[in-house]
Amino acid sequence: MATPTTTPTRSPERRPRRLPPGVRKAVLSVHVIASVALLGEVWVLVVLNTAAATTDDAGLALSAYRLMSVLVFAGGIPLSTTALVTGLILAFGTAWGLLRHAWVFAKLVLLVAVVLIGMFLFTPERMAAEAAAGPLADAEQWVQTAVVATQAVLLVVATALSVYKPRRTLQAGRGRS
Ligand code: HEM
Repeated sequence: MATPTTTPTRSPERRPRRLPPGVRKAVLSVHVIASVALLGEVWVLVVLNTAAATTDDAGLALSAYRLMSVLVFAGGIPLSTTALVTGLILAFGTAWGLLRHAWVFAKLVLLVAVVLIGMFLFTPERMAAEAAAGPLADAEQWVQTAVVATQAVLLVVATALSVYKPRRTLQAGRGRS
């Protein structure tokens, strides 16, 4: 059987993994904690928005919207940043690559979508200001609930992708990570 006489470049599959196992496990632990905690934080936002939209107690609605801003700054922003940074470290630091496997790239797109939705469509400060000024429109409250529910669905999809890791590979990632 003929064997190749030269090996100009090693195939990506044979490239050694770049993160030492201990470092990889530590980064992966932080990644899983941050990304699943982010899903938990978004779920609390769904609960608070639903409570605010369904209550007749104006004080409860106002408190709920105020608490949402606290959650975003104490939870959503640091957790999404940590999930993104550790995800990129794992993508580039392991054989998974960023553009090699569809599930990895899809998670990047999903996380960026979650962040953009939060930045441009979720407006708890405005809702709190309006709640302090008088009764809120039902439609506006349910739109906010739908916005955070959409984020939750995207994060559930990302979590499922992480567990199932569909085999599909990307053309763009062949030969590089
Ligand atoms: C959107 C939110 C995300 C969630 C909920 C999430 C969740 C997870 C979970 C649960 C795992 C562990 C899977 C296992 O070991 O079986 C994982 C692994 C991984 N994630 Fe994420 N992730 C997210 C975002 C990202 C992003 C944005 C990237 C890359 C840009 C990424 C890249 C990876 C990689 C490469 C692994 C495999 C690491 C390894 O096996 O060493 N993730 N993710």
